[in-house]
Amino acid sequence: GLATAAFAQAQAWPAKPVALVVPFAAGGPTDVVARTLAASMTKSLGQTVLVENKLGAGGNVAAAYVAKAPADGYTFFIHHNGMATSTALYRKLNYDAMKDFEFVSQAVEVPMTLLARKDFPANNFQEMVSYIRANKDKINLATAGLGAVSQLCGMMFQRAIGVQLTEVPFQGTAPAMNALLGGQVDVMCDQTTQTVPQIKAGTVKLYGVTTKSRVKVLPNAPTLHEQGLKDFEVVVWHGIYAPKGTPRPIIDRMNQAVRAALKDPDVVKRMDDLGAEIVEDRTNTPDALQAHLKSEIDKWGPVIRAGGKFAD
Ligand code: MLT
Repeated sequence: GLATAAFAQAQAWPAKPVALVVPFAAGGPTDVVARTLAASMTKSLGQTVLVENKLGAGGNVAAAYVAKAPADGYTFFIHHNGMATSTALYRKLNYDAMKDFEFVSQAVEVPMTLLARKDFPANNFQEMVSYIRANKDKINLATAGLGAVSQLCGMMFQRAIGVQLTEVPFQGTAPAMNALLGGQVDVMCDQTTQTVPQIKAGTVKLYGVTTKSRVKVLPNAPTLHEQGLKDFEVVVWHGIYAPKGTPRPIIDRMNQAVRAALKDPDVVKRMDDLGAEIVEDRTNTPDALQAHLKSEIDKWGPVIRAGGKFAD
């Protein structure tokens, strides 16, 4: 019967490479986390975990693709807060974040940084805010589209200082960072998993971090909260998903592979160097991810709807 077939399929798994779909451009923050985990999981699963970048609509092209992919254990998905925020940002989505996926595991949490191009005429956060307020019609904010955390953080920042800038969407913050380095855009909120090397190299200006407390790898960077944006907080979290109906034994083995990767010293070191924090092992269960996604949908929905920015 069906149960026996599913069992046999799960026994043989993985019999070929396993795809891990990333909803943003190669080389960017989500991709870095995905590739770091994939390298370790390839060792423990004995099959290649192949990162596939599916771009567009702030991560929603990839989410819809995975929702409709075969539930055979060969397609997985890594996504961040966008899985929750898109529910409020888009009037229609061709997938349901809560209903169309199996939940595998949480992974890492990542702080964001508020940046400007290197020659931006402001040397600290207060100067930055004054300059932006005085020049708001000429300033471009780079984002990875509606559904991206760069857009979420940028939206909260604009709201907090009372301006509306021109938003320039890219298919990930890797190309957005290139535009910032090239001076084609002015400011950006982006995750430490991409920005720490640039900050350390002095190729961008840093004005603050989005967590409630300072970030260990950027000890001199004040939080936005401590610089006057009271209670400003954006923490990026990651979930790993599979199409609904993927056999439970495969989900459980994938969960074990993710948890093993999160204890792999190479992964721990890389994440540490990039300011990312590995989520506590006891919360890396399918149930905990499902509950977390639900709580994030409830948390961000009202915040986003208050911003009044939507896509169809
Ligand atoms: C990326 O990987 O490009 C980012 O996570 C996009 C974003 O800002 O959400």
